[in-house]
Amino acid sequence: MTVTDWTSRYQRAVMNTFGTPQRVLVRGEGAYVWDADGKRYLDLLGGIAVNALGHGHPAILAAVSTQLATLGHISNFFASEPQIELAERLLSIVGHDGRVFFTNSGTEANEAAFKATRRTGRTRIVVAEGSFHGRTMGSLALTSKESYRAPFEPLPGDVTWVPYGDTAALDAAVDESVAAVLLEPIQGEAGVVVPPADYLRAARDITNRHGSLLWLDEVQTGIGRTGAWFAHAKSGVVPDLVTVAKGLGGGIPIGACIALGDAGTLLQPGNHGTTFGGNPVATAAALAVIDTIERDGLLDNALKVGDFFRGGLADHPLVADTTGRGLLVGIVLTAPVAADVQKAALDAGLIINNATPDRVRLAPPLILTVEQAADAVTTLRSILDGLKL
Ligand SMILES: Cc1ncc(COP(=O)(O)O)c(C=O)c1O
Repeated sequence: MTVTDWTSRYQRAVMNTFGTPQRVLVRGEGAYVWDADGKRYLDLLGGIAVNALGHGHPAILAAVSTQLATLGHISNFFASEPQIELAERLLSIVGHDGRVFFTNSGTEANEAAFKATRRTGRTRIVVAEGSFHGRTMGSLALTSKESYRAPFEPLPGDVTWVPYGDTAALDAAVDESVAAVLLEPIQGEAGVVVPPADYLRAARDITNRHGSLLWLDEVQTGIGRTGAWFAHAKSGVVPDLVTVAKGLGGGIPIGACIALGDAGTLLQPGNHGTTFGGNPVATAAALAVIDTIERDGLLDNALKVGDFFRGGLADHPLVADTTGRGLLVGIVLTAPVAADVQKAALDAGLIINNATPDRVRLAPPLILTVEQAADAVTTLRSILDGLKL
């Protein structure tokens, strides 16, 4: 069966929400994947910031198979050891006391946080333009892209939009009616957009002044992606709610709503629930991911390899800017040719993402080596050299 055969079967059987798949992949190892025709690709997208340890990492394999052989699933009428340990571990890497609610995805982590904000007695949420928080109805209400939202109106309301990174606009938008300000520390889907250095600190001060919660969506930026456990760590702010998913399970579906301090008790018995959230296998996988990031020094590696990418591409005449931190890399092009770059890269054996018409995004496994990045930079530069503008 070739990629073409599999693609036509996909098109007949799988709902067409994602368009035609770029390739049908059959195998992965480390930072590489192979398609059904046997072609190898260096995976610089990592399942969109998910495969923190790459593909087929022995630590995840061991954790998942051992846990599945021991205790695979229980209901939330019961608790399991990996679930409790992961909650403790997440609080310890955030660095504050609180409570964790486990989910299966980023959008569900945000749904949990959204519901928690309603328990403040206020309803208004202030969100940034350019935001992406997920596709379920609640998270979609907080996602800015009009084309995603419009077909599904009415969505949960009382949402105020502010320009991302604009402290004065945030200050003007927040008052005593605001339950929470929701921000991504770096906007991933928007193409790796980094706010001014003091933005999160200002957001904390503004929310403190009005008794509003500060909710940071670290679904894409969390768990080592930016070279720190959380992208907000550098700012020194202590948020009330932090949502994570993607890299947390390294490819096993899991998310979490981490509620710090008093926010940890906003959701009470009966207020929220899930069948799979906190599943022993998923939480065991996440513990293995966190342990491996720590043991193998992958936070430092993410910083080193990410800087290598930015340094290796910044001076190309078609590159207007390089953005992001660690291994969340944005390449801002001087023309809207990101889709052409993505296509040419795929043909050349590189998986990258055209996040917007003029922005390429890289979010590779945190295990990526400088040598692998150097090969990729050489390929990307020659693709950019060959573009006819
Ligand atoms: C910042 C952010 N929040 C939420 C989500 C939604 O996560 P999921 O696709 O796991 O529902 C994403 C996914 O791209 C994201 O980048």
